[in-house]
Amino acid sequence: MEKRIVVLPGDGIGKEVTKGAVEVLQAVGERFGHQFHFTYGSIGGEAIDTYGTPLPDETIQHCKDSDAVLLGAVGGPKWDTQPPHLRPERGLLKIRKELNLYANLRPTSYYDSLAENSPLKKEYIENVDLLFVRELTGGLYFGKPSERVEKDGKEAVVDTLYYQKSEMQRVIKLAFELAEKRDQKVTSVDKANVLESSRMWREVANEISEQFPNVELEHMLVDNAAMQLVTNPKRFDVIVTENMFGDILSDEASVLTGSLGMSASASLSEDGPSLYEPIHGSAPDIAGQNIANPLAAILSAAMMLRLSFGMQEEAKAVETAVNQVLDAGYRTKDIGRSVNNYVSTSEMINEVKAMILDHEAIMHIMEAYS
Ligand SMILES: NC(=O)c1ccc[n+]([C@@H]2O[C@H](COP(=O)([O-])OP(=O)(O)OC[C@H]3O[C@@H](n4cnc5c(N)ncnc54)[C@H](O)[C@@H]3O)[C@@H](O)[C@H]2O)c1
Repeated sequence: MEKRIVVLPGDGIGKEVTKGAVEVLQAVGERFGHQFHFTYGSIGGEAIDTYGTPLPDETIQHCKDSDAVLLGAVGGPKWDTQPPHLRPERGLLKIRKELNLYANLRPTSYYDSLAENSPLKKEYIENVDLLFVRELTGGLYFGKPSERVEKDGKEAVVDTLYYQKSEMQRVIKLAFELAEKRDQKVTSVDKANVLESSRMWREVANEISEQFPNVELEHMLVDNAAMQLVTNPKRFDVIVTENMFGDILSDEASVLTGSLGMSASASLSEDGPSLYEPIHGSAPDIAGQNIANPLAAILSAAMMLRLSFGMQEEAKAVETAVNQVLDAGYRTKDIGRSVNNYVSTSEMINEVKAMILDHEAIMHIMEAYS
C-alpha cells in the first residue's frame, strides 16, 4: 500500500517525538512492504515565527490532500504573551475545525511493566483498558460569543456552550460502534442535573442506544466520573462525553497507567484525513535534551495504521514492539521510577525500530537486562 502522511512536528519535544514516529512507520513500511510518503508542514509557535500565523493556509491544504496527519505538540513560553489570535494553541483548534475532527479517541491501557509508575495501587489499575471518546469540534471551546463584556456597568465575561444535535449524534454513535467491538459498555458523561445541553446529550445517548441492543449504556454525572476514574477505573469500557468534560477527564485517565509520555490519541474526521498525536504538550522544560519519551507519538502512529489505513497486523506489531521494549527494561526518565540508567529519546526509538524489524532483537535485549 502507498500512503501520504503529513507530519506537523510543531514546537519543543514535538519535533523529537514525531521524528521517532516517522522512523517507526518507515520500519513498518520496510517490514510489511508499504510505502509511506512523508511531507512536512508548519503549525504552532514555529509557524507564528515564520509565517505570522499559527496555522498557515498552505498547511491546511497540505493536510486536506493527505491520507493522515501526524502532529507533535505546539506551544511554549516564547509565545505565552502573544495576543489570542497569535497563540500556538489557536493552530490546534483551527486544524480540528478545518479537518472536521469531530471525535478524539484516547485509550488508557495497562502496562504491567509500568505498574509502579501509576499514582494508584496496582490492584486498582491492573488490566484497566478504557477508551475515551471526546467530542472535539463543538461546545464551550468554539461557541460564540466568547468575550469580555460590560453589563449594568460591571466588568463581566461570557463563553457560549453551543451544540447542534447532529454533532452529539455522530460522536455518541461512534462510541457505541467502538464499544460493540470491545466490552460492550458505554458510559455517557454529562451534567444533566444542571445543564440543558447535557439533558439533550442524555436524550441523544438514549436514542442511539436503541440501535445497539448488545451495548449497555449508563449515564454518569461528570463529578462522579472524575471520582470513579481514580477509585474504580476498571468499571469503564468506552466513555463518551462533550468537549470540555472530555478534555479534563481524559487527561485524568491518561496518567492512571504511568506517564503523559505514554498516552496516544486519534482525532477522527467524518469526511477527510484523521489526525494522530500524543496527548502531551511541547514540554519546554525538557525540549532539546533528547530525554522525552517518544512512545506516545509512536503509539499514535500505531493508531493511524489501524484506524486510517486498516493495517491491523502492522498496528499490532508496533504495539507489541513497545511492550517488548518496556518488558526488556528500557525506560526514558519519565517512566523510570525504579531504573538508574535511562535511555535517551533516540535510543528508545532505535529499540522499538529494531524490535519491529528483527524478532531476534528481543533475545539480545533480554540478555542485556538479565
Ligand atoms: N496538543 C498540544 O500540542 C498541547 C497539549 C498540552 C499542552 N500544550 C502546550 O505545551 C506547553 C507546555 O505545557 P505543559 O507543561 O502544561 O504540558 P506538557 O504536556 O508539555 O508537560 C507537562 C509535564 O510532563 C512532561 N512531559 C510531557 N510529555 C513528555 C514526554 N513525552 N516525555 C517526558 N516527559 C513529558 C513535561 O516535561 C512536563 O514536566 C504549553 O505551551 C501548552 O499550551 C500543547
